[in-house]
Amino acid sequence: MSIACAPGKIILFGEHAVVYGRPALAVPVTQLQATAEVQESPVAGIWVEAPDISLHSELTCLPAGHALRTVIESVFRTLNLPAPPPLRIRVTATIPVASGLGSGAAVSVAIIRALCSFLGQSLSDEQVNALAYNAEKLYHGTPSGIDNTVITYGRPVYFVRGQPIETFRTARAFTLLIGDTGIPAPTRESVGDVRKLWEADRRQWEAVFDAVGEIVRAARDAIESGHIPALGPLMNANHALLQAMTVSGPELDRLVLAARQAGALGAKLSGGGRGGNMIALVTPERAESVAAALRSAGAKNTIITTIQENP
Ligand code: MEV
Repeated sequence: MSIACAPGKIILFGEHAVVYGRPALAVPVTQLQATAEVQESPVAGIWVEAPDISLHSELTCLPAGHALRTVIESVFRTLNLPAPPPLRIRVTATIPVASGLGSGAAVSVAIIRALCSFLGQSLSDEQVNALAYNAEKLYHGTPSGIDNTVITYGRPVYFVRGQPIETFRTARAFTLLIGDTGIPAPTRESVGDVRKLWEADRRQWEAVFDAVGEIVRAARDAIESGHIPALGPLMNANHALLQAMTVSGPELDRLVLAARQAGALGAKLSGGGRGGNMIALVTPERAESVAAALRSAGAKNTIITTIQENP
């Protein structure tokens, strides 16, 4: 049997504007994982099991365009394997679906790597990333590629659509709290709605995306120079621009406010928005009490994660 795992991710700054060519910062979250197991099947066919979404099906019985079918078939095509052996592919994840934490991209990357390993083949990170990006198009419509990139490479990225992967330094470790609204929110919808706004008034929204780009660059400088408290106001400013893009929502706003009132240095939604997750910058001493405040304000789950020093 071959097993491969891929982490979840959080976007620190720059979601949505990143679709329009502005930079964004994202980091992997290793407390969250997607796992794919591949083994020989005693029964003919390619059997796909994803108990988290109650899926158990032969590959060709999944609708054409199903994300799992697409990613698996793309691996066979890339490996030039028109008649793959009978296989059983089992996918599980601790990453909640449609929560802004990269579950779709993590599942794709885990499947691609587990399949390659089982079939005794290897693909470069670049090839894995390209295959995962194709699957992302089915999840998201017009993805920037940030999710598959941060998850494939498993390291912090300063991401600009269409440009080679660039990582960033972390002069000092910092602590983030992730709060889950528990509301599933497909990224495709919020990305589509921002596109409608942009199509209706490109000048206005390009200016908003420029402002997000400035925040992202300032945040990178703060992280690289170790001025961590400066990130708090930048998170708050980024959240306000995401509200203007209509991708926040009452539950996200409630958690963001609760985090700030409980002593977080800043807070914002993370990922596609509407539901899903928010993040708050906290001192390690405050992390537990802010987490408790988030749960009182309705968070279904909280995760404390440290972005490690990487000078
Ligand atoms: C989703 O994690 C991030 C978005 O910016 C969409 C994308 O970049 O593809 C909302």
